[in-house]
Amino acid sequence: MNIAVDTPSVPETIYLKDYMPPAFAVNSIDLDIRVFDTYSEVTAKLDMRRQHAGDLVLLGRDLELKSIKINGQVLSPEQYQLDSEQLTIANAPDQAVVETLVIIHPESNTQLEGLYKAGDDLFVTQNEPEGFRKITFFPDRPDVLSVFTTRVEAEKKFPVLLANGNLIEKGELDGGRHYTVWQDPTKKPSYLFACVIGDLQVLKDSYTTMEGRDVALEIYAEAKDIPKCHIAMQALKDSMKWDEVHYGRPYDLDNYMIVATSAFNMGAMENKGLNIFNTSCVLADPEYTTDAAIMRVQSVIAHEYFHNWTGNRITCRDWFQLCLKEGLTVFRDQSFSEDLQSAAVQRIDDVSVLKSHQFPEDAGPLSHPARPDHFVEINNFYTATVYEKGAEISRMMATLLGKEKFRLGTDEYFKRHDGQAVTVEDWVAALSAGSGVDLSAFLTWYNQPGTPTLEVNEEYDATTHVYTLRSKQSIKPHAKYPNLKAVPIPVAIALFDAETGEQFELESESLIENHVKDGMILFDQDEATIHFNNVTNRPVVSLLRNFSAPVNLEFAYNDAELAFLLQHETSGFNQWQAAQTLLENILLKNHDSSVYLDAITNAKLLPELIKTDPNLASRLLDLPSESYLASRIDSDYRPEIVEIKREALLNDLAKQFGEFWKTIYTTLDPKSQTEFSQAMGIRALRNIALTMMARQGSTEVFDLAYQQYQTTDNMTERLGALRVLVWFDAPQASDALQDFYNRFKDEDLAIDQWFMIQAAHPRADQARIEQLVAHPDYDLGTPNRIRAITGGLGSRPVNLWGEVGTAHFINLAKIMDQKNPIVGSRMIQALSRWYTLSEPKRSELKEKLQTLQGQAKSKNVVETIDSMLSV
Ligand code: BES
Ligand code: ZN
Repeated sequence: MNIAVDTPSVPETIYLKDYMPPAFAVNSIDLDIRVFDTYSEVTAKLDMRRQHAGDLVLLGRDLELKSIKINGQVLSPEQYQLDSEQLTIANAPDQAVVETLVIIHPESNTQLEGLYKAGDDLFVTQNEPEGFRKITFFPDRPDVLSVFTTRVEAEKKFPVLLANGNLIEKGELDGGRHYTVWQDPTKKPSYLFACVIGDLQVLKDSYTTMEGRDVALEIYAEAKDIPKCHIAMQALKDSMKWDEVHYGRPYDLDNYMIVATSAFNMGAMENKGLNIFNTSCVLADPEYTTDAAIMRVQSVIAHEYFHNWTGNRITCRDWFQLCLKEGLTVFRDQSFSEDLQSAAVQRIDDVSVLKSHQFPEDAGPLSHPARPDHFVEINNFYTATVYEKGAEISRMMATLLGKEKFRLGTDEYFKRHDGQAVTVEDWVAALSAGSGVDLSAFLTWYNQPGTPTLEVNEEYDATTHVYTLRSKQSIKPHAKYPNLKAVPIPVAIALFDAETGEQFELESESLIENHVKDGMILFDQDEATIHFNNVTNRPVVSLLRNFSAPVNLEFAYNDAELAFLLQHETSGFNQWQAAQTLLENILLKNHDSSVYLDAITNAKLLPELIKTDPNLASRLLDLPSESYLASRIDSDYRPEIVEIKREALLNDLAKQFGEFWKTIYTTLDPKSQTEFSQAMGIRALRNIALTMMARQGSTEVFDLAYQQYQTTDNMTERLGALRVLVWFDAPQASDALQDFYNRFKDEDLAIDQWFMIQAAHPRADQARIEQLVAHPDYDLGTPNRIRAITGGLGSRPVNLWGEVGTAHFINLAKIMDQKNPIVGSRMIQALSRWYTLSEPKRSELKEKLQTLQGQAKSKNVVETIDSMLSV
């Protein structure tokens, strides 16, 4: 027996520049996983071949090595070196069949990484990025691609035994046990390996690809949840079709399986042919889950499916290239979702996430390039920057190229690199070659941190009819990146006649296409000047339409011009953008609220939108969240002040509309709609209206809310009503909460919402949070349940930064540092803007974080706290 001792050491920093190809390839691996109650045995047989000089290195963590053979010969402990991270064999032969037997403990694995027990009747794996090394010894890095054959063995009380690829054998064994053998014909890196052992039911369907291949589709879940899998199944078929139509990519195996589990750190994982999903990202049913959750399910299903080409068939050379697969795949799932609902609203929601998470991340101590060049713990780099900014970079190139050229570019990428592990450079080079447009300047976007600022000034000559824009880009200096360069910034643009609101035809030599209404300019230098001819009347310019680049735009709009754009922009996204800028002016710069209020109550705007795009109408009524507003404040931040101002504006809005809210509430009926997306918009509007009526202080509103709560069969409506009752302390609140609990006590996702609403109470005090944490259903082993409370608390900055909030987060980080460091590290990031707070809060927070820094053990939490404190 041989257990490596964990030698405490300073965590090592890994650098992109140190990349070395592996000394050995693994052509194939035969895995045999035998699960028992108190341990599991794993045998692995690796067919390895030398590629380069160097030792034969197998990575392994928390493995109990029972035996190791090379080419049939048992190795004695002197013949290899073993530490807590790897097994090294010097002087290995060029062809080596390495066979190991190890013991692992999935039944006590609380980190939810590697093979772990995910409930009484279920074992699942999570191997990205570095979980496979907790299952067996292997060169666990994405540039080692192998054919996997997997045997899974367990007791028959686990009827479902799954692994990647095709089922090639199954059978019964003595002692009430059975097994299956699976073979995956496509070579893959170890992070895409998966297996599942459990007692689950299955929903089956099928899809015929454009090549005529019949694919068996299967979604596995607990019996009671099978009826909630139909929306995901439809989304899967829609995604398969969408990737064929838009990228020419058909599916390549005979089956596609999805397994739902409630014990999952993340949303979902794209394991080859065997996706594993958090229940929150696969179960969808209007009776149990909200409209937002249903939209999320569809986009995550698409995301993981799209990885089959962008991630699995073409994977990453190393983890620094993570945004190659994640950024591109997020861009693809966003595009898919834009086809499912109002494209403007989808873009609004995606840009909101970008601006409220990625922009602040990139402006603070956790800032890093979309492709980082060093890390301590790779799990800490599944960030908004890698995902969201990564998606924006792909989107910018797609926008600049236009549909046809972008397709030529991606066709070339798939042709060149199918079956390979590649880099961001390979991606940009293939796109350039295929499209015939040199995109190499976009590499700068991947390589440097920070959000660029684009400052634009205008000038109009009424005699020559020439309209001029002057631009200047800049980026905040960064201690670690001294040589920041200009980046290519595609700016979509339109000019509107200031008098009539008509859109001008654009004429300029600087336009990507001349003579168009919807134009595009590429600002790729530090400064530029652009002229438009034949602008016959003073225009109002709309810049960065559809948010064509992830930059901070500075243009001196006055509030009247913003109100004009809110009325006249033909892009729904930019109508919203104008409203948001107006609202920010009111909330952060003390502008008068009347311009916004008058514009939004304009007789035509809302009633028309409510008919054509009710979702967009609801977004135009949305105030920027307190967390977003906080992200715009860099020092002396006082959460109470932001809350007071925002509350006052909400109350003004409630008053301004008068009876209109009640009209919206009583006359709109989601049941009159045939399209889900329209009905969703109407539900959103009615929930806003209900809240506004509560703000008006109407006494009957609680009765209306209670009635809505009791009579609806729709979770969006039920929660909308419950929120009003709970957050406004209605007399019916505790009744409704009790009723909700009784109704849904066996539905984990609904109970998550029940926790969340209470934790998000405007004045969630210690007693309330303590009561939630002490509730028998609160469970530190289920990340979804933990996030229900942190998500609720975190949505109210006043509570987050108060005693109760910070204590909750710090405490949790301490516990999770030991129990589940991936989740612990994410949790503590909620406090990453501590340094913006006003004194004495700022110093108090700093001290608390420093104390935590001294106590934390895991690489994950240590690296995150170190970065957070490096301001
Ligand atoms: N590959 C990731 C899952 C993952 C994330 C594995 C972090 C290991 C560490 C998956 O494709 C993914 O990106 N999932 C997202 C959802 C997606 C819609 C952006 C997630 O889990 O949040
Ligand atoms: Zn992904």
